[in-house]
Amino acid sequence: MKSLKIIGFAIVCFVFVWGCKKTQEPDQVIAVGTNTPKLPNPTYQYDSTQSNQQFQFNERATLGRVLFYDKALSFNNSISCGSCHIQQLGFADNVQFHKGVYGNELKRNTLSISGNSTKLFWDGRSTSMRDLVLRPLSNHDEMLQNLTALPSKLALIEYYKKLFFDAYGDPKVTLAGIQDALAVFCEVLLPNNSKFDIELKKANGNVWQNLSGFTEQENKGLTLFFGKATCANCHIVGVNFSDFGVGGGYSPPSENIGLDMEYKDNGIGALKNDATLNGLFKVPNLKNIALTAPYMHDGRFKTLEDVIEHYNNNVVNHPNLSTLLSQLGETDSEEDAVPIRLNLTEDEKKALVAFLKTFTDESFIRDPKFSNPF
Ligand code: HEC
Ligand code: HEC
Repeated sequence: MKSLKIIGFAIVCFVFVWGCKKTQEPDQVIAVGTNTPKLPNPTYQYDSTQSNQQFQFNERATLGRVLFYDKALSFNNSISCGSCHIQQLGFADNVQFHKGVYGNELKRNTLSISGNSTKLFWDGRSTSMRDLVLRPLSNHDEMLQNLTALPSKLALIEYYKKLFFDAYGDPKVTLAGIQDALAVFCEVLLPNNSKFDIELKKANGNVWQNLSGFTEQENKGLTLFFGKATCANCHIVGVNFSDFGVGGGYSPPSENIGLDMEYKDNGIGALKNDATLNGLFKVPNLKNIALTAPYMHDGRFKTLEDVIEHYNNNVVNHPNLSTLLSQLGETDSEEDAVPIRLNLTEDEKKALVAFLKTFTDESFIRDPKFSNPF
């Protein structure tokens, strides 16, 4: 009897606490928008490539830029997309796990944003930018914004009337407009002007030769990346070797790189509930990689040197280890395949790091058209 009472009491407490929590949730509108974004007139040009010369493209991207940096998009006005995706850090951040609206740590390391692809997020669960952009808004851990309430919340903010009118010919704030504008802005975040991009264009995409503007060490790293160190087997350089795996339609592979014998976060295996996919994550793009430490889905490595040491000597024999990271064992049979050992010298490791640093696009991270307008 006594225990029943305790259970009864516990239920009452739970319902009470749950009820209180509910009232804090996002339906109520909190006044915001005292800060007006500073925008240039005429607008910045975002439609540099032919594929995006569509209706009011620059105005839609401009609206997307404001939404991206507006804290009003989180339920308690505490964070924006730009709080975690920081321009100076290649639209990633520099912490292992960023905190969401409640100050709670997220479960994965922030990915950099660098254009559209058909595999977004670490486990590729989103297949287009359009599909992705509303997810962090409503995600409990991230911004916890009630999507149905969002348009009416933003409609109370003066500057959105003109921005929506300019983008869609109607001052009415709609969820479809929010989604479109955010997607357009994220899709134009294309770092394509790194030293590597520039040199590669000059060389017509030929990576099998030294690049003329590279130092000796950078060229040594290039040769290793595409050769002995096998990095390019997975980190694929995009079409024409110019976009380096960023841009529309690109689908990066997914692999298990042998970080642990048992993964705490099983990535694609957890998403699909399939143990044969445990520990597989999409191969991330390496643009601006020198700016986006710490590394991997769980931010376990603090430096690029740590990452290279992993591939050099520390790959473990997970049952799903990528065949690209294993080699045949003593009997030459697939059964006793062992993790690859690259046997890189200290000089070679330094050269690889120097090469990875050529992926930094300084003009992109300083470009005012991608910056915070508030
Ligand atoms: C609290 C931090 C945080 C906020 C706020 C946030 N993100 Fe993210 N973002 C992340 C994390 C962490 C990941 C990786 C999550 C995963 O893969 O499961 C990510 C992944 C992404 C990706 C995938 C990139 C790729 O190439 O796969 C895009 C695009 C993105 N976010 C856009 C946005 C947009 C747009 C907003 C605002 C509507 C936003 N994010 C708000 C932390 C954040
Ligand atoms: C078998 C495919 C494969 C090969 C070969 C490979 N990588 Fe990776 N790489 C991945 C995958 C998959 C991830 C993400 C793994 C995770 O987070 O669990 C990754 C992650 C990384 C990261 C961290 C990216 C980030 O945003 O945190 C860096 C840096 C990196 N690799 C560099 C290299 C270098 C340098 C080489 C060559 C020495 C290399 N990779 C070889 C598949 C590969």
